[in-house]
Amino acid sequence: MKAIKKAVFPVAGMGTRFLPATKANPKEMLPVVDKPLIQYAAEEAVAAGIDTLIFVTGRNKRSIEDHFDTAYELERELEAKSKDKMLEILKNILPKHVNCVFIRQSEALGLGHAVLCARPVVNDEPFAVILADDLINFAEKPCLSQMVDVFNFQHCSILGTQKVPTEDVSSYGIVDGIEVKPDLMEVSGIVEKPPVDSAPSNVAVVGRYILTPRIFDLLENTERGAGNEIQLTDAIADLLKEQRVLSYNFEGRRFDCGSKMGYLKAQVEFALEHEEVGEEFHEYLQSLHKRGMDKVVKIAGSK
Ligand code: G1P
Repeated sequence: MKAIKKAVFPVAGMGTRFLPATKANPKEMLPVVDKPLIQYAAEEAVAAGIDTLIFVTGRNKRSIEDHFDTAYELERELEAKSKDKMLEILKNILPKHVNCVFIRQSEALGLGHAVLCARPVVNDEPFAVILADDLINFAEKPCLSQMVDVFNFQHCSILGTQKVPTEDVSSYGIVDGIEVKPDLMEVSGIVEKPPVDSAPSNVAVVGRYILTPRIFDLLENTERGAGNEIQLTDAIADLLKEQRVLSYNFEGRRFDCGSKMGYLKAQVEFALEHEEVGEEFHEYLQSLHKRGMDKVVKIAGSK
């Protein structure tokens, strides 16, 4: 089977959970410390050996195209001011060998439909799908690189999964199956956003997929499902009737940056690890903690 060289980024969503911040700006452009979410996703893809980034965009998403394009005026200005470090950062947003393709999803028909929009560029190759609002921190290897390793060995579709608290299962695609190795499960069923009491497990798909191109044929015939949208999960349920699908519990900490709490946690943890501000931010958090403790001591003392 061909190597994974293409990644699809469905970025047409409205981002209503972050209004008014996302009224005129795409949610994928929200920064975590100093990089937009979509850049973390693109870097993860490039690290996994991908050379073609396919963005499925919608209205109000122009700034994503601009972000990955050359900013001549800005570069000239930084050059003139000898701001070399900033210039370097700007020029290295993506390596030279990586190409970006932008496809417009004209109707908001769901994740499955967004992935189907990428078919003319992906053609008959296995490919990755990355949901940029699932930001994944890692210790040794980025999530998609781990999944590509599994794919290169197993040669079938791989779903990136993590266990979630039972009360949260109705927010995810949930898989059922049999463990074949530690962290690897042969998927026997998958269901989109099941009610808590009928979920087959608490193993959730969290924004990373490697799929065989057969998924496109199945998506062509997928009816609208949960939320009246064409769901990728439903096409995967059809796929596993014909082909082996594995789910892989990857290593890494995942932040749901589509929710305010997840986004805030990502800011804090990425800031703590940040080369430039990490140490100072750590001291700041400690001082906040101390101020909080002082307050508690004061209240207790006044009783
Ligand atoms: C999408 C998928 C869902 C998956 C989730 C991961 O849902 O449909 O299966 O578990 O992403 O974040 P969304 O969060 O877009 O509603």
